[in-house]
Amino acid sequence: MNSRIIVALDFESSKQASNFLDNLDPEECRIKIGKELFTASGPDFVRSVIARGFDVFLDLKYHDIPNTVAKAAVVAADLGVWMLNVHASGGMAMMSKTRDALERFGADRPKLIAVTVLTSMAGNDLAQIGIQASPLDQVVRLATLTENAGLDGVVCSAAETSTLRKSIGSDFCLVTPGIRRLEDAAGDQKRVVGPGEAIANGSDYLVVGRPITKAASPNLALAEFNSAVAGAVKPLV
Ligand code: C5P
Repeated sequence: MNSRIIVALDFESSKQASNFLDNLDPEECRIKIGKELFTASGPDFVRSVIARGFDVFLDLKYHDIPNTVAKAAVVAADLGVWMLNVHASGGMAMMSKTRDALERFGADRPKLIAVTVLTSMAGNDLAQIGIQASPLDQVVRLATLTENAGLDGVVCSAAETSTLRKSIGSDFCLVTPGIRRLEDAAGDQKRVVGPGEAIANGSDYLVVGRPITKAASPNLALAEFNSAVAGAVKPLV
């Protein structure tokens, strides 16, 4: 499996999500399961998606004391997920303890990435919680902390990718949502970037939801996203 496209499975129920997956080929994309679907459908549903052959990114953004997050991550890894994430603002101890706890999975260890600053937060939102840095400076700070904690990468907006690529290692994985082709509606995404441009700016994986899940032909849309990033020269990390 070497697709760079992670389809966001943003459905309300496992029934809707399963119907969608019935027509999708696990050789053509990976799948992201977030808080809504996980809360509705639970770990058995995650196992069922993995059993269909999909690589699953479990997007639960853990943020708690180090022991709790490390243990939750081990349970997620036991499910067989390919990637999972934590909030970098949980700090160095939380991230490195979680990273260490996943060592026991050896070569089957899921990729562990972090969320830096939620893209829903602007400068004044950060100031309200006592952070005086600009959002971009805070993203770079937290991405550097994530890299130093030994994690595999961060989720970042397309607007941050090229800045981040300059300050972190080339094998550090950047996972980018907010991706649209010219013909796609932006929806509630404020700044969108095309798939080829996102890869050129240094993204490794693109999270795409509605342009594929709501397409008249999801497979056709997925094929277009796959071919738009096929020219990427950087090997998959
Ligand atoms: O439908 P759309 O392509 O906008 O879906 C993008 C997915 O990426 C959604 O699951 C959304 O929650 C997620 N996401 C995002 N922006 C972020 C982080 C995650 O759109 N900054």
